[in-house]
Amino acid sequence: MNPPALTGREVLLVVGGGIAAFKSALVARELQRRGASLETVLTTAGQRFITGVTFAGITGRAPRVDLWDPAYPGELHIALTAKADLVLVVPATADLLARMAHGLADDLATTCLLAARGPVVVAPAMHPRMWEHPATQANIAALRARGVAVVGPVVGALASGESGVGRMAEPEEIVDAAARALTPQDLAGCRVVVSAGGTHEAIDPVRFVGNRSSGRMGYAIAARAHARGAAVVLVSGPSALADPSGVTVLRVRSAREMRDAVLVAAGSADLVVMAAAVADYRPADVSVEKIKKTDGELVLRMVKNPDILAELGAARRPDGPMLVGFALETSDLVAHAREKLARKGCDLVVANLATDGFEGDDNRVTLVSPSAITPLELMGKSAVADHVLDRFSAWRSR
Ligand code: C5P
Repeated sequence: MNPPALTGREVLLVVGGGIAAFKSALVARELQRRGASLETVLTTAGQRFITGVTFAGITGRAPRVDLWDPAYPGELHIALTAKADLVLVVPATADLLARMAHGLADDLATTCLLAARGPVVVAPAMHPRMWEHPATQANIAALRARGVAVVGPVVGALASGESGVGRMAEPEEIVDAAARALTPQDLAGCRVVVSAGGTHEAIDPVRFVGNRSSGRMGYAIAARAHARGAAVVLVSGPSALADPSGVTVLRVRSAREMRDAVLVAAGSADLVVMAAAVADYRPADVSVEKIKKTDGELVLRMVKNPDILAELGAARRPDGPMLVGFALETSDLVAHAREKLARKGCDLVVANLATDGFEGDDNRVTLVSPSAITPLELMGKSAVADHVLDRFSAWRSR
């Protein structure tokens, strides 16, 4: 899935002194892959775990390590923070968090953190006993209260061989948090339900009728809604994709399981996006035993599945959520989309041709509402997601 871009953003990466520092190189790599430019500051302890050569190689810029750098004529911490859109601390050690919480500024990293005016994201990593210590918890609470975004730590295996809360979040999740910190929170306070993927309709204990939907479009909508501040429930049919960070994921198999999960979640939602490729039919009878091969033909009788979107549309109240459906067509795109908009009682249909986005990372869609037909260019599924969410933003302020 194509994650949110950081194109043109300047990130100041502060690398603290903990064993998780080796993963900060992967964070640098991922930031760059998403289009960010980087300056790196290594603390004295950070340099014990990873060398500047690694960051110079990745970013093309020599990392900064010394507040008193004789080669730099001006105030290095002011210059570095003036151009930074975001400061990201990876790993944030207990000591670095304590110094941040108390506003200390006795080295290049802490002077930068005190001089920074944009968003700050920290990725703590330490032994669970240090993380759970009241001093660290008080420092984290103080930083959160000041608006610092904290990603992790998570439960997992630690370098010491033990397991507990203290392991640093994975690089991709840290970069997602960085992207989120740079994204206007226009959907804060909104509850969004998204369905994604295909469904599996059982034939017998080991076989099913399914479709080729990857789930990418729905996962992108869930990820972007979360990045823009919404509380998101993703009801996913079988999909190989990893759970988007920060999103509540409910995994289901069949259309009927999806219906039950979506209807419960939709009860308190402001927006429901049915991006799932729900099977219209299911086998009438599910064999308890695995069906044996015979010489003759096998005939499957199929019965209609409930139409989840139509059910939501029929039950809608004036204070109910905005309803968005998808229409995947092989011909007459707009005509079919308009028919679905009316028949399913939704506010927007995102229509696309099967050739334009079923399995890939990009999609070319046409947004069809009761009042307008808007064809969009071919673009990444994250960008399509933002267009759909922009429509929701406009719908809320209608
Ligand atoms: O009628 P069609 O399957 O083309 O409609 C597609 C839209 O309806 C999608 O938004 C899909 O998620 C939704 N749908 C549904 N329940 C079904 C079939 C489709 O909610 N049983």
